[in-house]
Amino acid sequence: MASLTVRQLDEKVKKLLRLRAARHGRSMEDEIRTILGQAAQGSGRDPPEAIDPPARAGAQAVRPSFATPEPSRERPATSSARRVLLIIGGGIAAYKSLDLIRRLQDHGIAVRCILTKAAQEFVTPLAAGALAGGHVHTDLFDPKSEFDVGHIRLARDTDLVVVAPATADLMAKMAGGHADDLASAVLLATDQPILIAPAMNPMMWSHKATQRNLARLLDDGVITVGPDAGEMAERGEAGTGRMAEPTAIAAAAVTLLDATAGQRPLAGKRIVITSGPTHEPIDPVRYIANRSSGKQGHAIAAAAAAAGADVTLVSGPVNLADPPGVRTVKVESARQMLDAVEKALPADCAIFAAAVADWRVANATSEKIKKTKAGMPPLSLVENPDILATIAHRKLGRPRLVVGFAAETENLIANAKDKLERKGCDWIIANDVSSESGVMGGDSNKVHIVTASGVEDWPPQSKDGVARALVGRIAAALVKEPS
Ligand SMILES: Cc1cc2nc3c(=O)[nH]c(=O)nc-3n(C[C@H](O)[C@H](O)[C@H](O)COP(=O)(O)O)c2cc1C
Repeated sequence: MASLTVRQLDEKVKKLLRLRAARHGRSMEDEIRTILGQAAQGSGRDPPEAIDPPARAGAQAVRPSFATPEPSRERPATSSARRVLLIIGGGIAAYKSLDLIRRLQDHGIAVRCILTKAAQEFVTPLAAGALAGGHVHTDLFDPKSEFDVGHIRLARDTDLVVVAPATADLMAKMAGGHADDLASAVLLATDQPILIAPAMNPMMWSHKATQRNLARLLDDGVITVGPDAGEMAERGEAGTGRMAEPTAIAAAAVTLLDATAGQRPLAGKRIVITSGPTHEPIDPVRYIANRSSGKQGHAIAAAAAAAGADVTLVSGPVNLADPPGVRTVKVESARQMLDAVEKALPADCAIFAAAVADWRVANATSEKIKKTKAGMPPLSLVENPDILATIAHRKLGRPRLVVGFAAETENLIANAKDKLERKGCDWIIANDVSSESGVMGGDSNKVHIVTASGVEDWPPQSKDGVARALVGRIAAALVKEPS
């Protein structure tokens, strides 16, 4: 009887059934038996598309959905489920966005999808709809969609808009304020936060036009996740441009949803941050120093505190006010800084933004050295403790996430990669501190996030902007790997 039923189904339903059966590792007949069994028990009420894959093991029993049993009208979830509008752009990474739908649902998020025209060359509305459990929106001028939901409601009836993959073209349209298709019109009409996961060929990513568009989008408050560095889908192509993994995008979405819901994503997390230069005494009045202003480290401390973290800032001598809501410990030398950091542990995350002097004067005197006719006093130097390596290599009580800074004037990325390995930390934030860069003492920064999985280039932005983005990234990492 079951095989007769399958043959009698129309093509659309058959396709959905095949998808659902494949997902559950059952034959189509067994899938029908399961559906009928659930229906008989009164527990198998499915959303409008009639065939809706259940949640995987470990996820919630009922997947959150925007859809309701009404045949033609969609409504936002009436439950407390948080809602994401996922816009899938026309890139090769679009297939990963199908997995992203499930990853978001695993966090209890209801997903509604828009596919651009180009996206439909890579994935079908049917596949996205089967996973999302509802109608997929593709056309700005589709009268049914427009009268049912409408692009303005699509834009507003959500808690977050996620664009993945965010193609170069889609980013350009967003930056230019275009609205000539459903995706771009919704992106312009939304009043909700927007998270984009750029994905493109490395040449497209590094092109000045894309970087210009990215800078504008960041300025407009758009939040990015990725792209990662590594092998591209095209044979022989490698570099920065891979879309962030669906788990990372979902974690970033959760962080943003938490933040916009007034929850503070770093609440309950302890963070230790070092900032500023160190002063290494020669005698009671003279010292060896560097040009670090402490602006970046202090900005990170302020952003982490604003995100709810319990922050200890270990600061070298700076001309900055203590950030609000932060426990500030003031030190002078590298050895004092290490001591203060160790006292501030345990912590979930340690960020070493201070420019610690590599050497100190071995024969520092307790009395002021007098200028004599005998000539200049000899100064011999000894190495200072390596604070980053000491903490990153701790066997006991190592913070889960150890982030170092690399301030370089040449071979920035190569030196940062080398530092990541030598010091045993998790991330290195590399920045060019050559005098032309204006970073030392300045208000803006251009950083590169170097991790074991690659290098991420962030566009130039204010040190506050870097701090906020870094804190968002840290929150996502700590959410991803809960203690
Ligand atoms: C096989 C293939 C793969 C592509 N992959 C990408 C990509 O990964 N990223 C990108 O920005 N554009 C990519 N493109 C180009 C986009 O499809 C094209 O710019 C399209 O207009 C983007 O549409 P959208 O604005 O709807 O995303 C690809 C094109 C082809 C033919």
